Order: sequence, then structure tokens, then C-alpha cells
Amino acid sequence: MTQIFTPAADTWLRLFMVGGLALSSGGLVGLIGFAHSAYETSTDVRPHQPVPFSHKHHAGELGIDCRYCHTGAETSPQAGLPPTATCMTCHSQIWTNATMLAPIRKSLADDKPIIWTRVAKLPDYVFFRHDIHIAKGVGCETCHGRIDAMPLTYRAKAFTMEFCLDCHRDPVPHLRPKDHIADMTWQAGTDASASGEKITAHEGIRFGQLTHCYVCHR
Ligand code: HEC
Ligand code: HEC
Ligand code: HEC
Ligand code: HEC
Ligand code: HEC
Repeated sequence: MTQIFTPAADTWLRLFMVGGLALSSGGLVGLIGFAHSAYETSTDVRPHQPVPFSHKHHAGELGIDCRYCHTGAETSPQAGLPPTATCMTCHSQIWTNATMLAPIRKSLADDKPIIWTRVAKLPDYVFFRHDIHIAKGVGCETCHGRIDAMPLTYRAKAFTMEFCLDCHRDPVPHLRPKDHIADMTWQAGTDASASGEKITAHEGIRFGQLTHCYVCHR
């Protein structure tokens, strides 16, 4: 089948339709209310997972770095979820017979990945990438909250447009030194904007351009 619209044109068409529909029916408030209560923005929901994986245990108590399992966060658009082999680096030695881990052993034996239920996901008309945020000094915790304290994973912050824009208007106070990117307890000093200023000085943040619609809708 020939494609009439480019993916970008398609995104714009859908945005236009969503926006236009809402405005023409006077239902913008209703629409936003709907969008915000939908699965995509829901916070605090702990969905059923094939294995009850605990960040509290692994990232918090055992202190495993986020990037050991989410290897793409620094280098690609997607942080990515770990393959079964990553779990097996430890679980071929410890807890080898636990019933809780049976799906992991089956996944390895059958060579089929575990299908996790996603909690942090944007609607597909929003463009996002991890690498640029990490490179410019936005920490995991700023967007995902205290993952290291979660026995079961949930979305700590609603990914509303306002959430993104709040920072895109002035990222400086939210930036941190790169060696604290995955640090869950890092706190800005008393003068956050001065240290942010220092960080950005040599990073070349494109001030004033980050709120343009095409940054996130393309
Ligand atoms: C660096 C080592 C390491 C890796 C990698 C690892 N685990 Fe664990 N895991 C442990 C240890 C240690 C325990 C705890 C045993 C104890 O103290 O009770 C554990 C316990 C568990 C438990 C039992 C419940 C709990 O949290 O106490 C589950 C379920 C589990 N891991 C799932 C996973 C999955 C799924 C992966 C891959 C995404 C994974 N683990 C990767 C070390 C690891
Ligand atoms: C031992 C491996 C491991 C480590 C270490 C780890 N994670 Fe995870 N992470 C997982 C697995 C497995 C899932 C999918 C299951 C779940 O949601 O709990 C996941 C899910 C997530 C999700 C939800 C993704 C989605 O859309 O459903 C976020 C956000 C996340 N991790 C962030 C972090 C952060 C931040 C850290 C460091 C503090 C971290 N993870 C450390 C294995 C790990
Ligand atoms: C600027 C905000 C922001 C920062 C910083 C951030 N994330 Fe995310 N993360 C998101 C958003 C938004 C999504 C959903 C992306 C989507 O659906 O396209 C996401 C999705 C994820 C997922 C699900 C799988 C994926 O790649 O989509 C994991 C795992 C994750 N993030 C881990 C991390 C880790 C680990 C860090 C720090 C090294 C981090 N994130 C830093 C906003 C952020
Ligand atoms: C805490 C601050 C912060 C938050 C929250 C945040 N961003 Fe960003 N974002 C940045 C910074 C800093 C940059 C890099 C700016 C630069 O390079 O000039 C960036 C860059 C981007 C870019 C890349 C622009 C390009 O042209 O390459 C996209 C896309 C983006 N953000 C989307 C999002 C979306 C979508 C969200 C919400 C889910 C979000 N961001 C939340 C700080 C943030
Ligand atoms: C920094 C990223 C970012 C920028 C810049 C941005 N948006 Fe969004 N936009 C989002 C996110 C994230 C959502 C999804 C909100 C949700 O799921 O609740 C969204 C949703 C929307 C929606 C769907 C309706 C709604 O509110 O849920 C429309 C329409 C929209 N944006 C239009 C625009 C227009 C027009 C601009 C330029 C003035 C713009 N956006 C700039 C991130 C952005």
C-alpha cells in the first residue's frame, strides 16, 4: 500500500483533529480530563506483572545502577527494558528455584522475552528521547520519581504537556552534574539556578526554542 502521508504529517493531522474536535465541540476541558485520566497519564497504578520485580530491592537495597538494566538511557531514545539474560547474571546463581522466578526461567528456556506491563508511556503523537535529556543533565528521578523506593513500579509523575513545558520554559534550575544522573537522592544545593547555569554554560541549551510545538510533536 502506498503511504499518502509522511509519519510527521500524520502526527500533525491527528493533533489537528484532536485539537479541532475539542475546540469545535467546546469540549476541550472534557477532552483534557479524558486524556489525563486515561492509562497513559495515570500515576500510582501498580499493574500486574509476570514477575513481581522490585526496584526497591534491586536498585534501592542492592544498589544496582539504573543503567545496568536500562542500558539505552544514555545512548539512545529509549532507556529500554532488560532482557532475561540480565536477570540471569544473578538468578542463575541465587534464588534459582524460586516459584516467583519461574517465568524468568521459562523465558530463558523458550527464548521468548518477558512481556512487562508498561507504566511510563507517552501517547504516540508525542516525540521523546532519553539520550538528550541525560546528556544535558536531567536526572532519572526528576521524571520518574523515587523508583528506588518502589516495591512494584508505578508512574510517579503524570506526563502531561504541562509537566514537559514547565521544564522546557527554563530547564536551568532542574539540571544536575552528569555523575549524579542516576542518583535518586541528589539534591540541588541552596543555589540551584547558579549551579544549573554553570552546567549549561558549556552544554549549549537552546533557550527559548524548547517550547515550540514541533520539538515534541513532529
Ligand atoms: C545484580 C544481581 C541481580 C540481578 C541482575 C537481578 N536480581 Fe533479582 N535478586 C537479586 C538478589 C540478591 C535477590 C534477593 C535474595 C534475597 O535477599 O532474598 C533478588 C530477588 C529477586 C526476586 C524475589 C523478590 C524480591 O525482590 O526479593 C525477584 C522476583 C527478582 N529478584 C527478579 C529479578 C528480575 C526479573 C531481574 C531482571 C530484570 C533480576 N531480578 C535481576 C539479585 C539480582
Ligand atoms: C535489575 C534490573 C533493574 C534495575 C537495576 C533498574 N530497573 Fe527499572 N525496570 C526493570 C524491569 C524488569 C522493569 C519492568 C518491570 C517493572 O515495571 O517493574 C523496569 C521498569 C522501569 C520503569 C517503568 C517503565 C515502563 O514504562 O513500564 C522505569 C521508569 C524504570 N524501570 C526506571 C528505573 C530507574 C530510574 C532505575 C534506577 C534507580 C532502575 N529502573 C533500575 C529492571 C531494572
Ligand atoms: C526528561 C524526563 C525523563 C528523564 C530524565 C528520564 N526519563 Fe525515562 N521516560 C520518560 C518518558 C516520557 C518515558 C516514556 C517514553 C515513551 O513512551 O515514548 C520514559 C520511559 C522510560 C522507560 C520505559 C522504556 C523506554 O525506554 O521507553 C524506562 C525503563 C525509563 N524511562 C528509565 C529511565 C532511566 C533509567 C532514566 C535515567 C538514566 C530516565 N528514564 C530518565 C522520561 C524521562
Ligand atoms: C526537568 C527538565 C525537563 C523535562 C521535565 C522535560 N525535558 Fe525535554 N529537554 C530538556 C532539556 C534540558 C533538553 C535539551 C535542550 C537543548 O539541547 O537545548 C530537552 C530536549 C528535549 C527534546 C529534544 C529536542 C531536539 O530538538 O532534539 C525533546 C523531543 C524533548 N525534550 C521532549 C520532552 C517531553 C515530551 C517531555 C515530557 C514528557 C520532556 N521533554 C520533559 C529538559 C526537560
Ligand atoms: C515539551 C514537549 C511539548 C511541547 C513543546 C508541546 N507539547 Fe503538546 N503535548 C505534549 C505531551 C507530553 C502531551 C500528552 C499529554 C497527555 O497525555 O496528557 C501533549 C498533548 C498535546 C495535545 C493533545 C491534547 C491534550 O492536551 O492532551 C495537543 C492538541 C497538543 N499537545 C498541542 C500542542 C501545541 C499546539 C503545541 C505548541 C504550542 C505543543 N503541543 C507543544 C508535549 C508537548
